This record gives sequence, C-alpha cells and structure tokens, in this order.
Amino acid sequence: MPSLLITGANRGIGLALCQLTAKQDWTIHACCRQLDQATELLALQKQYPQQIQCHTLDVRDEKQLNMLQSTIGSDPIDVLINNAGIHAVTASQFGRSTEKATTWEEAVQVNLLAPMKLMELFVDNIASSSMKVIANISSKMASMDDNGSGGAYAYRATKAALNAVSVSAARDLKHRDIIVMILHPGWVRTDMGGPNGEISVEESATRLLAMITSAEMKHSGQFLDIDGTEIAW
Ligand SMILES: NC(=O)c1ccc[n+]([C@@H]2O[C@H](COP(=O)([O-])OP(=O)(O)OC[C@H]3O[C@@H](n4cnc5c(N)ncnc54)[C@H](OP(=O)(O)O)[C@@H]3O)[C@@H](O)[C@H]2O)c1
Repeated sequence: MPSLLITGANRGIGLALCQLTAKQDWTIHACCRQLDQATELLALQKQYPQQIQCHTLDVRDEKQLNMLQSTIGSDPIDVLINNAGIHAVTASQFGRSTEKATTWEEAVQVNLLAPMKLMELFVDNIASSSMKVIANISSKMASMDDNGSGGAYAYRATKAALNAVSVSAARDLKHRDIIVMILHPGWVRTDMGGPNGEISVEESATRLLAMITSAEMKHSGQFLDIDGTEIAW
C-alpha cells in the first residue's frame, strides 16, 4: 500500500487525511510539533500501530527536519503532503509589517520555506516510490485574481510564493516523473477556517485524497480547487 509523509498531522485537515489514509491501509509518517499534546493523533496511532509512525516536527526546525530524514532513511515515500500552515493574523493588516510581534517571518518559514525544504530533503524517497506525488496545500487566498477583499498580507503572499516554488519544482522534477500538485482544500471548518467553513474536514480530506490518487503528469504545476478545476493565479 502507498506511503505518506504529512506535516501538521495533529489537527484539522492533516489529522483527517491521516484518519482516512489509515483506514485505507496506507503507511503514514505523521509529523506534528507537539507530539505529547497530540491526543487524537496518538489515539489513531494506537489504533493502527503497524501503519502509523509519529514524528516530532516543528517545520521551522532544521535539526528536527534532518532527524526526520535520517529516521526515514531511503524508504520510498509515495506522497508528501505539505499541509502545515499558519494564517498569521497579526501580519494580516496594512500598517503592521514592522511590528515586533508580527508573524510575517513565521508565515514565510512555515508556509513557504518548510514545504521547499521538505521537497528537497525527500525528493529521492519520492522518486523511488510508485506514485511519486508531492501535494502542497495552498489556498485560494493566494490567487491575485480572486483577491476581492484585500488584507491577509502575509498569508496571501506566502501561499502565492508557495505556488511559485511549486511550479518551478513541477518543471524541475518532471524528468524524475514526480508530480507536484498545488491544492486548495476548500473552505474547511477547522481552527483556521472557522465554524462557518463550507465543508467538513472529512469531506476536504476525501476530495483531496481522490485528486492525489488520480493525479497525472498534466496536473503537475496546476493550481487546483477542491472540485478539480483550475484556479486563476
Ligand atoms: N481551513 C481552511 O479553510 C483552509 C483553506 C485554504 C487552505 N488551508 C490550508 O490547509 C492547511 C491545513 O489547514 P487547517 O485548516 O487544517 O489548519 P489548522 O486546523 O489551523 O491546523 C494547522 C496545522 O499546521 C500545523 N503547524 C502550524 N505551524 C507549524 C509549525 N511551525 N510546525 C509544524 N506544524 C505547524 C499546526 O500544528 P499545531 O497544532 O502545533 O499548531 C496544525 O497541525 C494549511 O496549509 C492551510 O493554509 C486551509
């Protein structure tokens, strides 16, 4: 069965993807930054002890990234899902970019640099697998075309930059048959999406996984909505 490496696996869409893939017999490397507090993920791991391996990973932490790489070694990874993300609320408003407490830097690290580093660290594992898919979880809020309401400076900018690096990676990794997907998970009822989100985590995870498992090279470098349609950049 396929193997998955996923970040931000302790709650929200990440946890739902772990629950869904575990049910389908996938092998899962589930990463989260505070494993001792990841009650639901640890309970899932107990339920599927042969399939799920949990790893402590703050995606900003170089040491933990390197440790993860040495733990996984040369094992094939069918799908890498760069899911961890932050909305960076204090970096959302005009006029606040120089404030000390701003989360601009954190947004750059988590939403942009970490997915880039994870793609680089695990490219050989992905290339040696059967499916060879990288799924970078972006957001429709990265779309300039769709930006009718302004604000969310750091979030929009870092997700748009994630889209840019994903397109380059799609071009650069094509010769290794690696598909790099850029996916909007829908407006989802999570801590980030809030209670008014349009879909549940289960629905988002089901639809994301359907797109990932049916991915073809033509989808590499495309910015895709949860219904599979292309989003304007
Ligand atoms: N919900 C939506 O409507 C929506 C829409 C578009 C895109 N997205 C994207 O979908 C992805 C998942 O979002 P979600 O709604 O599930 O968000 P969420 O419920 O807020 O969960 C965010 C996840 O990211 C993790 N994370 C944040 N900073 C991290 C770090 N430094 N190191 C490791 N993990 C870190 C969190 O871990 P902790 O628990 O340790 O904080 C948590 O597991 C994100 O990339 C988000 O931008 C969501």
